[in-house]
Amino acid sequence: MISGTGTLLQALIDAATDPAFGIEIVAVGSDRPGVEGLARAEGAGIPTFVHPLARGGDRAEWDRGLTAAVAAYDPDLVISAGFLKLVGADFLARFGGRMINTHPALLPSFPGIHGPRDAIAYGVKVSGATVFLVDEGVDTGVILAQESVRVSDDDTVETLHEKIKVVERAMLLDVTHDLATRDWRVVDRKVHWLR
Ligand code: GRF
Repeated sequence: MISGTGTLLQALIDAATDPAFGIEIVAVGSDRPGVEGLARAEGAGIPTFVHPLARGGDRAEWDRGLTAAVAAYDPDLVISAGFLKLVGADFLARFGGRMINTHPALLPSFPGIHGPRDAIAYGVKVSGATVFLVDEGVDTGVILAQESVRVSDDDTVETLHEKIKVVERAMLLDVTHDLATRDWRVVDRKVHWLR
């Protein structure tokens, strides 16, 4: 699932070309038409769909439609790779526990859609990225992996976000590979890798 330029998606597309990586990307969905990430998917021959939420549209209805659109591809894992909408109860009833998201801050600090901006505004010296299991909250799910980056005095929102995206991409690939190829379960907010 994407909403934008799809550099995280591109990393997944590239990784998936190696069968040993252990995933097949069955579809790429976006809530926004015309974004670069969709073109990346099309270029790689991956089926795409767009499911926009109209301004003032019914959120529950949108969520039901999104659930059906994703369910049509019957994925084992749903990856939110820069998908900027919150999914709702229907979606989580079907895909909860097997949908991951990546966030450009060290959760629980700076949740929401402005992680790098909020980190700069607060003046932290270290930020980073978090990969977590999506739940009904805003960036509150079980943390699967985190990686830090130093914030320099001359960092801007843009330069910090670019630094974060470097570690974010590598971490998303590692977690995706592990989830796809190992047995795991979550107990008390901790992921246990069983083999
Ligand atoms: C990532 O930093 C993601 O965590 C954030 O938006 C960025 C997505 O970038 N929500 P891209 O669309 O994969 O280039």
